Amino acid sequence: MLSNAFNSISSWRNYRATPLLKLNKLQKNLKLNNIFYKDESKRFHLKSFKALGGAYAVEKISKGKKNITISSATAGNHGRSVAWGAQRLKLKCKIFVSQYVSETRVSEIKKFGAEVIRVKGDYENSLKECQKQSKKNNWKIVQDVSTKNYKYVPQLTMAGYSIMIKEISQQTNQYITHIFLQAGVGGLAAGVVAGVAKYFKRIPKIIIVEPDQADCVLQSIKSNKLKKIKIKKESIMGGMSCNEMSLVPWQILKSASDCCVSISDKNIAKTIAGLKDKKFSKSSITGGECAAPGVIALIGICNNIKAKKFLNINESSNILVIGCEGNADVKLYKQLLSKGRK
Ligand SMILES: Cc1ncc(COP(=O)(O)O)c(C=O)c1O
Repeated sequence: MLSNAFNSISSWRNYRATPLLKLNKLQKNLKLNNIFYKDESKRFHLKSFKALGGAYAVEKISKGKKNITISSATAGNHGRSVAWGAQRLKLKCKIFVSQYVSETRVSEIKKFGAEVIRVKGDYENSLKECQKQSKKNNWKIVQDVSTKNYKYVPQLTMAGYSIMIKEISQQTNQYITHIFLQAGVGGLAAGVVAGVAKYFKRIPKIIIVEPDQADCVLQSIKSNKLKKIKIKKESIMGGMSCNEMSLVPWQILKSASDCCVSISDKNIAKTIAGLKDKKFSKSSITGGECAAPGVIALIGICNNIKAKKFLNINESSNILVIGCEGNADVKLYKQLLSKGRK
């Protein structure tokens, strides 16, 4: 499955591996050997790693048919990828969003020719409505969240994400010792772990990063079962504000992750500004609200002697953080950037 994903996606027009940057100023400050930053702001023209998942799943499940309609529910980036994937193949597309998805994100999805349907309530409500209408109209759902009876399509999206690791295996010959992986439902993290198993020669330590207001991976691991949590307040890290893990990622991450870190919204704006204003690296980086958490968690752990020792992070460590999105929501990015510069 993973090789197929790479062969397909790398044959798409305008495919290019995203840059593997170095946060050389930060690595010096934290006294680490390397900090690599995978810059997904440059992923096709969609500005996030999600471009790899939904669009690939659309291609696989449509199997060359032209008269089908694709549907999906999304917090933003996944729907954009699905809409793009459908547009590439000239398929009709219906995207369902909750009341919390910003107008900027909606207009980005519409740019790819999809019809966007707003649903009252949260992400779960938008998913239910998508399922209801898709059943009635015989639309093909492309969701990135897996459940007991819905695994194949989410697995395709994860296979798509794994190509980040294939690229990294060709971009450096340093052995990566630690990977910081942001999680919402866990699809990105599980896709990367699958990629590591296939493409890396050594298995690094895996650190999961979540918003403290939506720490469903941590709570599931703590109780050794899939745990649904209550989100009291939506985090600014919108794409990661999820109340329950996807089933397949749970099965992978429960044994593959070494540590879970939950972070607050407090340092997001400052870190976005730090990336932009070359505080961490020689070049300026556009990293959005879901890209900053990896850097924040790394700094937090390095400032905590016990945690640093537990994870064996030291001067010979080669850390990988995933800069999973750029300014995918341009308006929010601008607001956070100016707040972070104050
Ligand atoms: C933009 C965006 N959406 C969503 C997620 C979460 O991905 P998943 O739900 O697959 O865990 C991330 C991860 O950081 C992200 O950057």
